[in-house]
Amino acid sequence: MQILQITDPHLYGNAGGSLRGVETDSSLRNVLDDAFSRAADYAAILVTGDLVQDDASGYLRFKSILGHLRKPVLCVPGNHDEPDAMRLSLAQEPFQYCGTRELGAWHFIMLDSYDPGHVGGRLVESELERLDEALKGSPAHALVCLHHHPVAMGSRWLDGIGLANAAEFWRVIDSYSHVRGVMWGHVHQALDGEREGVRLLGTPSTCAQFLPGSDRYAIDSRPPAYRLLDLHDDGRIHSEIRWVQPASARQIAG
Ligand SMILES: [Fe+2]
Repeated sequence: MQILQITDPHLYGNAGGSLRGVETDSSLRNVLDDAFSRAADYAAILVTGDLVQDDASGYLRFKSILGHLRKPVLCVPGNHDEPDAMRLSLAQEPFQYCGTRELGAWHFIMLDSYDPGHVGGRLVESELERLDEALKGSPAHALVCLHHHPVAMGSRWLDGIGLANAAEFWRVIDSYSHVRGVMWGHVHQALDGEREGVRLLGTPSTCAQFLPGSDRYAIDSRPPAYRLLDLHDDGRIHSEIRWVQPASARQIAG
């Protein structure tokens, strides 16, 4: 089963809106064009937060870009989202706001780590309980998705704005043996690691990236990207990041 993960598109209501020098609307469209030129039969599209850049009118744009793809679009909120507006905007199929979803042999658990007034994230008690109940209720291979990173990225400024109560998160995860992976956005860079048998996957943005390993906030020159996941029935995960040159650069190169 193939899954496409995109993250941190940071859309505005205005198509020309740009963030850190990248027009976020055309950048997302370009990323999707690339992803669907390689494979068209994704079982779902996973979107790990910051769908908009502090602009709720960006959700209309998000829906118009992804709605016609006729795939489940599973979404969690990030710190730049407006969760109430996002939940209302994504109330109809093919969109899903948080919750859980069973697809084949896999169980997706989408968590809300939005912490009002903070750039970093937190899982409130009811969300930790929901995670626990979801894991208790299904023996399928579990993939847990949230916006904020629950492990250190090795970047001082970024590690100050991760998941504040990561220890509580891992206490739940560690009490189950069928969690195969944890996936997030927020970090605008790639990470592929492992913790106690659980795959750790951080994914670059569909727009601008942060410089890995930097102690201070710094923008990377790497292009927009997305992640492909191959989820096998036996619980194995194959995954790769694909970096996408802007359409204008591709035309020049071509
Ligand atoms: Fe972001």
